[in-house]
Amino acid sequence: MPELSVAVFATDNDQRAVLQVLVDGTSVARSVCSNSSMPLAANDPVIRKTQAFAPDVIVVDMPGNDVATALRAIEFLRQEIPDAAVFAIGPMTQPQLIVSAMRAGVREFIARPTSTSDLLDAFVRLTATRRKPSRDNSRGKVFSVVNAKGGSGATTVAVNLALALQVHHSTALVDLAPMGHCTLHLNLRPSFTVGDAVTNLHRLDSSLLESFMVRHDRGLQVLAGSSFPSIVEQSTSDIARLFDTIVGMFKYVVVDVSSRLDSATHLVSNLSEKILLIGHTDVASLWSAGRVAQYLGDTGSRDRFGLVLNRYRKIAGFDERQAETAIGSPILWRIPNQYVAVSTAIDCGVPLMDQGNSEISRSIAGLADHLTKDDLDVKRKAWSLFKTV
Ligand SMILES: Nc1ncnc2c1ncn2[C@@H]1O[C@H](COP(=O)(O)OP(=O)(O)O)[C@@H](O)[C@H]1O
Ligand SMILES: [Mg+2]
Repeated sequence: MPELSVAVFATDNDQRAVLQVLVDGTSVARSVCSNSSMPLAANDPVIRKTQAFAPDVIVVDMPGNDVATALRAIEFLRQEIPDAAVFAIGPMTQPQLIVSAMRAGVREFIARPTSTSDLLDAFVRLTATRRKPSRDNSRGKVFSVVNAKGGSGATTVAVNLALALQVHHSTALVDLAPMGHCTLHLNLRPSFTVGDAVTNLHRLDSSLLESFMVRHDRGLQVLAGSSFPSIVEQSTSDIARLFDTIVGMFKYVVVDVSSRLDSATHLVSNLSEKILLIGHTDVASLWSAGRVAQYLGDTGSRDRFGLVLNRYRKIAGFDERQAETAIGSPILWRIPNQYVAVSTAIDCGVPLMDQGNSEISRSIAGLADHLTKDDLDVKRKAWSLFKTV
């Protein structure tokens, strides 16, 4: 393993000294520069100084008394030194902080107090992913799918959206629903579930997580949901750590939340690029959609919600603008009502995307296209969904 060069940022003198010793103690990395001040702007001299060392990794300590400055510093560092992976050091007890750090672009969130073996594990993970040519420092985008009320089609959309995304990019489907149905829709028999990944968090890395997932013929990797109504609630820190690992492995992560509305859903929607709210064009569904968006979107993030009208049909007198205003989210997509095709797909375990070109599979492929349209590296050629892989 080649030696990694590491830049350390910590405003606390003792912590900075400790981090340098720990980095050097791993013997796979060497601290090449250390900084007592956080960059406050993109053109801050400390960024230029750090650039000169061309570090492979930047370790940023997140002091309890000023995480906002550390988060901004991470954003500047990611922007100005994009080739370096950023590791944040902070308390594991604050899920919201972990989420914010992930959104700012950190590659690893490491517990404080830190040990040499924590750092060594993170360095080894980084080197292992870099050896795979298609991987880079960027983290995958999360799309979560929640229903306005049970039976609206969240699982159907999540499963088929994940298959559509997988056509061009490594995609994972994570089933967080109270009762996991994704593997039934895909006719897969999982040996492990999200619960196993969470139980093994202390040793979870990309290889272990991959071994907990089940692979669909089209290459989609699925982390199966619970097959019994779960009794033990996973903590938000557990879910945050699970997603911290998973977004480092895949370009897109689709999460089937279905009707699960708890702190875990809250956390996942906070780290989602888009939250797809699946509803129908009836009063009860739209009323519920508004309440769900209100529950999940209290962090000033309403723009990340998109209403997906499933089983869509035009209804005389139904004012879509009014519905958008009432719910506080724009209508993002409309999926046609095709009961026979959808229910046969579920009953036979042959998802819509595997059943050839149909109006509904084109609609979901269009949704995948729409969600990824700003990703520069997504192939712009038509989604070639309908050839067998
Ligand atoms: N676009 C659609 N057209 C017709 N029926 C649909 C459509 N989407 C879903 N369904 C039906 O709705 C039922 C519930 O879908 P599901 O994806 O399990 O919803 P949820 O996960 O929100 O509870 C399915 O059994 C399926 O037959
Ligand atoms: Mg469901």
